[in-house]
Amino acid sequence: MGDEREMRILETPPMASSRTLYDEVGGMPFFEGLVDRFYAIVAADPVLLRLYPDQADLGPARRRLTLFLAQYWGGPTTYSDERGHPRLRQRHFPFEIGPDERDHWLSAMRSAVGAMETTPEAAARLDAYFATTAEAMRNRD
Ligand code: HEM
Repeated sequence: MGDEREMRILETPPMASSRTLYDEVGGMPFFEGLVDRFYAIVAADPVLLRLYPDQADLGPARRRLTLFLAQYWGGPTTYSDERGHPRLRQRHFPFEIGPDERDHWLSAMRSAVGAMETTPEAAARLDAYFATTAEAMRNRD
């Protein structure tokens, strides 16, 4: 007769109760697509673009945001392996982020999320996170 505990393991889908948003949206390709769309908007928005130290090559910034978001939502920890602890607020201090910059950033990200195919639940979680975090990055009145 099979061990009861073993049966339960066999019958329970792995990680059923802790499926990450990263998995839910389809993993890295989702975050790559999202950040591609976001940076296409940044590149065409002078309010945002002027903040970027390397406006001629947004590639490295794009990669950092992609890896950070993937890590934040439960994907691989490549961001921290390469960059250490995110310390996002501190890393944003050099950039003057007031309400206008925050709003442009958030609106660009909302358009990017809206252009991705995902569930309304995942979109709502992303949206709430981006709204709170964009405000947290504001360092000017
Ligand atoms: C949800 C809100 C935000 C998140 C999650 C986020 C995330 C990030 C990350 C992960 C980096 C790279 C940090 C590093 O490893 O060096 C970064 C850089 C940067 N962020 Fe943000 N950010 C947010 C909001 C904003 C806002 C509101 C602005 C200004 C409008 C902004 C402007 C920048 C700039 C100019 C950089 C430097 C680009 C670069 O990496 O070279 N960010 N951000």
